[in-house]
Amino acid sequence: MIMQLVIPTGNPKSLIRLSLGDPTVFGNLDTPDSVVDAVIKQLKNKKNNGYTHSAGMPEARAAIAKKYSTPNAPLTANDIVITSGCSGAVDLAIKVLCNPGDKMLIPSPGFSLYQTIASHFGVRCAQYKLIPEKQFEVDLKHLESLIDDDTKCILINNPGNPTGSNFSKAHILDIIALAEKYCLPIIADEIYANQVFPGQEFHYFGELSKEVPILSLNGLAKQYCVPGWRIGWVAIQDKQDRFKNVRNGLLSLSQLIMGATTPIQAAIPDILFNTDPSFYPTMNSTLAKHALFLYDKLSQVSGLVPIKPQACLYLMVGIDVNKFSDIKSDVDFSEKLLQEEMVFVLPGTCFSIPNFIRLVYVAPFEQLEESAVRFADFCSRHMKK
Ligand SMILES: Cc1ncc(COP(=O)(O)O)c(C=O)c1O
Repeated sequence: MIMQLVIPTGNPKSLIRLSLGDPTVFGNLDTPDSVVDAVIKQLKNKKNNGYTHSAGMPEARAAIAKKYSTPNAPLTANDIVITSGCSGAVDLAIKVLCNPGDKMLIPSPGFSLYQTIASHFGVRCAQYKLIPEKQFEVDLKHLESLIDDDTKCILINNPGNPTGSNFSKAHILDIIALAEKYCLPIIADEIYANQVFPGQEFHYFGELSKEVPILSLNGLAKQYCVPGWRIGWVAIQDKQDRFKNVRNGLLSLSQLIMGATTPIQAAIPDILFNTDPSFYPTMNSTLAKHALFLYDKLSQVSGLVPIKPQACLYLMVGIDVNKFSDIKSDVDFSEKLLQEEMVFVLPGTCFSIPNFIRLVYVAPFEQLEESAVRFADFCSRHMKK
């Protein structure tokens, strides 16, 4: 795909970036001081400047296990492998479950890294559909139709990027039942765990699965607003002991790169257990306020069909190209919006869903208000008369 999203020079309007899934870009969603202090403490004591176990520091693995255990899915330190960001966890999970030539099922729309890592390793991806009209639930019939003898796992991302969706407990149980029918393990990318809006409930796949082994992928990036710290992990949830080889495989693969940066690993127990508990709900409420504002405003613009988000950082907006006089596609829409209005969004084509755009709503509220005005002006200017 060739795209020309070049930031124009000479347009007097200020640039509004609604493109990057990074909560730190504007400084308004701040990392709590206690999280920063936890790392400073470790740097100052100079005790964690060396190498550590390739699967992560024992204290950090134990803290993650304690924090992310649920009554139905207790974890121990041995169930955790710390990685360089959640991207590292995606890499390990795919490589441990698939060999070159195997097939895995990934969501469409979905985070492009899955396909990038899989194809680099020679793993084929088949994309199962998410249904926009059902807030991007999985099209279970389509998912089932893709399963064949070569299929080695199903990758699910919940809450979702780029969809902003959060699956109900019933839907998660349906997905697990399908995986169980075909004896397929699940990779659950849960990097946005608990980052759901007031009124929504988040459920881990591992908490709801009895038979199907789950590799749950998570990290500090989004929940503590520190994507640059590059801390992620794989949590092995395997109630029936089916993953003995996978467990060993993960440990072997972790040795290829000597893990994530050690002073930050050393700070993990403090970060997870000494962060003000109000930080999280406050951030979620801010995100919900931003998301629902943009959703409401864009719902009133002819030619745009936003899908109500339930979680994390993302709003998907359908583009009804038939209503516009000179907009051919989501890519065309994104390019012209940037050139004329200085609003930067990503076309859905980046996530395998043409005729949608993805908005990230971490920007300060005033910028979102201004962007809503610019969207309305842009669409009305390009409307068919
Ligand atoms: C769904 C999803 N998984 C994984 C990642 C990678 O996370 P990290 O920055 O910790 O590597 C991202 C980052 O945006 C993401 O959106």
